[in-house]
Amino acid sequence: MTAIGIHDLEMATGHHVVDLAELAESTGVAPGKYILGLGQSQMSVLAPDEDIVTMGAAAAKPLLERNGTEGLRTLLFATESGVDQSKAAGVAVLDLLGLPSNIRVVEMKQACYGGTAALQAAVGIVARSPQERVLVITSDNARYELDSPGEPTQGAGAVAFLVSADPAVLEIEPASGISTTDVDDFWRPNDSTTAVVDGHLSVGAYLDALTDAWNDLQAHGGPSVEDIDRILYHQPYTKMAKKAQQRLREITGGQISTALNPGDEPDGRDTGLETSSRYNRRLGNSYTASVYSALVSLLDYDPGLEGRRIGIFSYGSGCVSEFLTGIVKPGYLERRNPHRSENLLDAREPVDIPTYRSLHTAPHGTSEDQVTPRVTSGPFRFAGVTGRARRYETC
Ligand code: CAA
Repeated sequence: MTAIGIHDLEMATGHHVVDLAELAESTGVAPGKYILGLGQSQMSVLAPDEDIVTMGAAAAKPLLERNGTEGLRTLLFATESGVDQSKAAGVAVLDLLGLPSNIRVVEMKQACYGGTAALQAAVGIVARSPQERVLVITSDNARYELDSPGEPTQGAGAVAFLVSADPAVLEIEPASGISTTDVDDFWRPNDSTTAVVDGHLSVGAYLDALTDAWNDLQAHGGPSVEDIDRILYHQPYTKMAKKAQQRLREITGGQISTALNPGDEPDGRDTGLETSSRYNRRLGNSYTASVYSALVSLLDYDPGLEGRRIGIFSYGSGCVSEFLTGIVKPGYLERRNPHRSENLLDAREPVDIPTYRSLHTAPHGTSEDQVTPRVTSGPFRFAGVTGRARRYETC
């Protein structure tokens, strides 16, 4: 059987950053709650001329520069921060990247799980036509109401990856575990620019979904926990990955370490909990991109992955989840460079809390004609709205 999987991947984020200790102090919360209690130190915030399209295109640009566009006939854009009810955000990306017209473009949605649905769809397309490659873009802007418990778990980011036959980075294995339950833990109604969430219910729903997806993986011939070398989780905040690891440990009896923070004493076998959370700790939640940012982080910081099996738990509220596995290919390090993503995170412009609050409360996603101020230092920008249609340009 042809090996199919992730050939290469790249991350992008927004222009601004908010320091979570500052956010905590501004509302009289002990900073330890955000830094240790949630495992978050910063969150990315978008400039007025950025959105999921500009971030997604920014992630895909270097990826295509490195790998070319040969065989590219599908672009799947996964997001839950859609900028239009009808047109796929990926159509604007196609234009910004100068891609040819013979590419099918579609948007996929199921909360944070959408990127994994896109990955599996891409694997299916390549299985039928191994000469084709699929560009998957995961891109989201996580927004909760100001002064709500979800506020410190906001963030923004995108990860783009190419799915192909004989991938250079991660071969996706055929067995996976799936779980769907209809639950009102988190959603975003059509008339709201922020998510509605029952936070504690959502944590329980996530952990129950993990148990169900894991059991389904086992029922479908997936590997035991001992045969998985590293484990990645969807990270709405990095402490959630620790809770997930604790749950997996309980249900499997596997001696896997739950040490999350740098310097924490391991209490079992290291499966990359800390290494895979380095970027998300600074990005905040990036919804569909979150588990793939965890993958970028792991690949960037773990030099011993060749031939290792990685477990990936993808969770989307509502809720749909999947536990899949992949094998890291020889030579993956040649495609990775931690400085790229670190520089991106370091380059963000810090904003103070009053500025962040005014960015948050500014009209968001309206279709009224407007010209956006020129702020972003990214390669693409949202220029504004004319004739009720969003306009984008290359910087
Ligand atoms: N020092 C250290 N730790 C502290 C502390 C301090 N001073 N004060 C509190 N803490 C700890 C608490 O003990 C708690 O730890 P545990 O979870 O290990 O018990 C942690 O900080 C958080 O405290 P609370 O539970 O009191 O926090 P909260 O009620 O204000 O909100 C939250 C937490 C429910 C996660 C909230 O941030 C939220 O609603 N977030 C959005 C929803 C979310 O991310 N859900 C995750 C699962 S759903 C999903 O994954 C999909 C998705 O992307 C949204």
